[in-house]
Amino acid sequence: MSFTAPIQLPGLSLDPQWYRRAVFYEVMVRSFVDSNGDGTGDLGGLISKLDYLQWLGVDALWVPPIFTSPLRDGGYDVADYRSILPEFGTLDEFRELVTKAHERNMRVVIDLPLNHTSDQHEWFQQSRQDPEGPYGDFYVWSDTDEKWPDIRIIFTDTEDSNWAFDPVRRQFFFHRFFSHQPDLNFENPAVHEAVFDVVRFWLDLGVDGFRLDAIPYLYESDEGNGEGEPPTHEFIKALRAMVDKSYPGRVMIAEANQWPREVAAFFGSEEEPECHMAFDFPVMPRIFYALRSQRADELVAVLSETTDIPPGAGWGVFLRNHDELTLEMVSEEYRQAMYGWYAYDPRMRANVGIRRRLAPLLDNARAELELTHALLFSLPGSPFLYYGDEIGMGDNIWLPDRDSSRTPMQWTPDRNAGFSAADPGKLYLPVVQSLVFNYGHVNVESQLAQSRSLLHWVRNVIHVRKAHLVFGLGDIEVLQTDNDSVLAFVRRYQGNDAHGGIHYNDQPETVLCVFSFAHNPVAATITAPGMAGSRLYDLFGGGVFPSFDENGSLTLTMGTQSFYWLHAG
Ligand code: BGC
Repeated sequence: MSFTAPIQLPGLSLDPQWYRRAVFYEVMVRSFVDSNGDGTGDLGGLISKLDYLQWLGVDALWVPPIFTSPLRDGGYDVADYRSILPEFGTLDEFRELVTKAHERNMRVVIDLPLNHTSDQHEWFQQSRQDPEGPYGDFYVWSDTDEKWPDIRIIFTDTEDSNWAFDPVRRQFFFHRFFSHQPDLNFENPAVHEAVFDVVRFWLDLGVDGFRLDAIPYLYESDEGNGEGEPPTHEFIKALRAMVDKSYPGRVMIAEANQWPREVAAFFGSEEEPECHMAFDFPVMPRIFYALRSQRADELVAVLSETTDIPPGAGWGVFLRNHDELTLEMVSEEYRQAMYGWYAYDPRMRANVGIRRRLAPLLDNARAELELTHALLFSLPGSPFLYYGDEIGMGDNIWLPDRDSSRTPMQWTPDRNAGFSAADPGKLYLPVVQSLVFNYGHVNVESQLAQSRSLLHWVRNVIHVRKAHLVFGLGDIEVLQTDNDSVLAFVRRYQGNDAHGGIHYNDQPETVLCVFSFAHNPVAATITAPGMAGSRLYDLFGGGVFPSFDENGSLTLTMGTQSFYWLHAG
C-alpha cells in the first residue's frame, strides 16, 4: 500500500499561494561556492549548484543580502540597494540566477533590510552633511541621546545605546542594531517612496518575494517600545497592497522576533493583509527546550496559541539560520536553562542567544537531528532549511559573532572542502576542521556515497512531505497524551482547496504526528475522540499500526527520541 503516490497538482508557478507548500533553503551566497577562486562565494557558484538543490527538493531559495555593502554586518548593512557587491557578482548574473532557478520551478526570495542602511549609504552621507537637503530627514536625528529609553538594545554584545553621535552633523542618530547602521526615518513620506522604488526594482528583476528583515522596528514613538507600532503595520499594509496589485504571486515574509501574539499581527487580517508569511520565532526555541527538558508542554502551549491566522497566510518554520538562536522572547528561567544545556561555554553565546549550528547544538546525535527535522517538516507552515544543516555541518566558535555558523559549505574532502580553489589563507572564513565536523568526513560527496547518511535521510523526508499536501495546507489539532514527554498532533486537510482561486483536484487527508522527547523508550496513550476507530498506516513504509479504539484512545510505544507520521483513515 502506498501513500506517497504522486498527486496531480498545478506547478508551483501557477499557484498564487505557492509558498504554503514550498520547502525553502537559506543560502548565503558568500558561503556556498566560489566560482572564480577569489576565496568568496558568488552568484556563479550558487548557479552551479542549483541542480543539487533541486535534487534535495528545494522549492525556493532565501538569499541573504548581496547588495553593495561594507560587510560589517554580513551584508545587512546596505550601502546601495540597486547594485550587487562586485565580489558576489553582477546584476546580469543575478538575472541568470532567477532565470535558471525558474527553469527548475524554483523560486528566489531575497532579503531586504528596510529598517536601516549602512552609514556608507549615499542617503546617510547626504543626510549628515546637508540637514536641509533632500536627504536631511531620511534618518532619525536628535539633539539628545536620551529619547525613548524604553527601547531595548538588540546587539547587547556590542552596543550600549541605540543612539550614536555623528561628528559631521553634530547630532545623534538612532540605530536599532550596530552604530554603523542608522535607522531610516519612516515618518518621512520620501523614505516610503524610496523604499517602494527599491522593492519595485527587485520585483522587476524577477524576484519572487522578500524576507522583510527586522520589520517590527520601522517606527518609534514616545508611548511604545518601537516594536510593531501601529504605523509600522500601516506601512506593511500599503506595501502589501502595492505588491498584490502590481506583482501578484510575490511573497512578503516577516522577520519579527516577537512574543507569539505579536508575531501573528504581522499577517494582518483577511481584509487588510500584511505579510504572507512570518517566521515562527515562538516555536523555534521551544523545540530545543523540549529536547533537553524531555517535556512537550511548552510546545503544546505555543502550538495551541499560534494557529489562528488569516486564510492564505503561513508560518515559516526553522531550526537554525544565519543569526544566533535567539532567546529574547523566552522567560529568564527558561533562557538560563537553554544556556546551561546548549551554551555551556560562554564563547557559544552571542547577544541574547546561542551562536551555534544545528548539529553541534545537538551534539551530532542522529536521533535528535531526525526528531528536529521531523518537527520542522510537519509543524504548520513551510520549512526553512539553513545551508549545510542537511549534511550536519559544524561551526567554529573561535570566529567572531555569528561568523561561527557562516563558514564555507562543505562539498568534498578536497582543498577548502571543494568550496573554492583559492589559497586556503584567502578564504573569507576558514573551513571547519574540528574533530567531529571536519570537512574531510562531513561533506556532500561522502554523504551522497552513503545511502543512510543524514543528507539522504533529509532528502527522503522532504519528498515524503511534498507528496502529502496536508503538511503545507492542513490545519492542526494538538492532542492530549498521558506522557509529558510525548507530543501528538493531527494535521487535517479537507481537500480540493480553492485557495487563491486555484482548485487542487486532490483528496482529504489526515496525518497523526507523534514525537517522543524522552531519553529512553516510553509508551503513551493518546486521546482523540474525533478519531475513534481510525486506522493508522506509517507514511514512510506503509506499515500497519494499531487503530484508535472506539473511545478514541490509542497506545503507542516509542523508541528513544523518535517520531511517527501516521496516515489516519
Ligand atoms: C538579520 C541580522 C542582522 C540584523 C541587523 C537581522 O534581523 O537577520 O543578521 O544583523 O538584522 O541588520
